[in-house]
Amino acid sequence: MRAIGISRTGDLSVLEQRSLPVPVPQADEVLLKCEWAGVNFIDTYQRSGLYALPLPLTLGQESAGRVVALGEGEASDGTLKLGDKVAAYVGGSFAEYVVAPRSKVVKLPEGLETRDAATALLQGLTGEFGYLCPPRRMASYLGATVIGTVSTAAKASLAQAAGATHLINYADASVSVADEVARLTHGAGVAAIFDGVGKDTWEDDFKMIARKGTIVTFGNASGAVPAFAPLKLAAKNVKVCRPTLGNYVYTREETERYAAELFALLAQHKLTLRVHQEYAFSVEGVRQAQEDIAGRGTTGKLIVKVA
Ligand SMILES: NC(=O)c1ccc[n+]([C@@H]2O[C@H](COP(=O)([O-])OP(=O)(O)OC[C@H]3O[C@@H](n4cnc5c(N)ncnc54)[C@H](OP(=O)(O)O)[C@@H]3O)[C@@H](O)[C@H]2O)c1
Repeated sequence: MRAIGISRTGDLSVLEQRSLPVPVPQADEVLLKCEWAGVNFIDTYQRSGLYALPLPLTLGQESAGRVVALGEGEASDGTLKLGDKVAAYVGGSFAEYVVAPRSKVVKLPEGLETRDAATALLQGLTGEFGYLCPPRRMASYLGATVIGTVSTAAKASLAQAAGATHLINYADASVSVADEVARLTHGAGVAAIFDGVGKDTWEDDFKMIARKGTIVTFGNASGAVPAFAPLKLAAKNVKVCRPTLGNYVYTREETERYAAELFALLAQHKLTLRVHQEYAFSVEGVRQAQEDIAGRGTTGKLIVKVA
């Protein structure tokens, strides 16, 4: 089968096509024929070496397609059958066939297409783990006042349509995000910060957080957050969390429960999906997708059409 991955870490030039045998599912594993694969920042972290993994490696973290083989044990417990539409949160999804532990596979409800599942799964579950934490990420849906930060007017319009209460364009050199947050909160700061930008915004987070607030740092779009001393938290009694989807939604029970909640929000039209672009299943396609996601010009999900 064809797959897209790396045999060494580095810039976009290290992406390569791999020719691999179709995997045979072992005990508790499901084999799916991939139709769509989601593109995520984590793919770029794995390619660059920020997240070190054994090499060679097939990239991609989420796929949606149809079940084509079931291993023994848990995979053959009768809950899945050949031909079922499923999605999986698992490494190696830029491939024609993907093998995943049963615990990482969810059966799609009636009416949910594989394209939509690949669009929604990873970001949807990430949003959920945020909203399940005390400060809530799917925040506007839950009634919180949300201050969003964006770099373009177009992103501001989209964020507003998605429910943000206030928006700050941090590309405008005349605007201080921290001052603007202070003004909007009458000097109190915000109860929670969800920061996927990382290095560039980390220090300002401590200016904007309220006393006893929570900073959730969940990404490295601008680079990894540097090491810091716990004493940094004392000035405002701040809590810092660094959640990651891979071991937050970990067991089969967690995967099925959170995916069911996500699919229900989609079915009730409480979440809408936005695809930025479909990319070809080729080295060029994945390279363009990685360039685009890191280039700050995308608004919505990037997906690879595998079949
Ligand atoms: N912890 C987890 O399990 C988990 C799961 C999923 C995603 N994530 C993380 O969440 C973050 C956002 O992911 P996403 O899927 O929501 O991607 P996204 O929609 O592309 O959001 C990333 C945004 O970061 C902003 N940004 C600011 N400085 C940047 C820089 N120097 N380089 C690139 N982007 C920069 C960009 O917005 P502006 O151009 O408007 O500034 C960009 O649109 C990523 O860091 C990702 O790794 C973490």
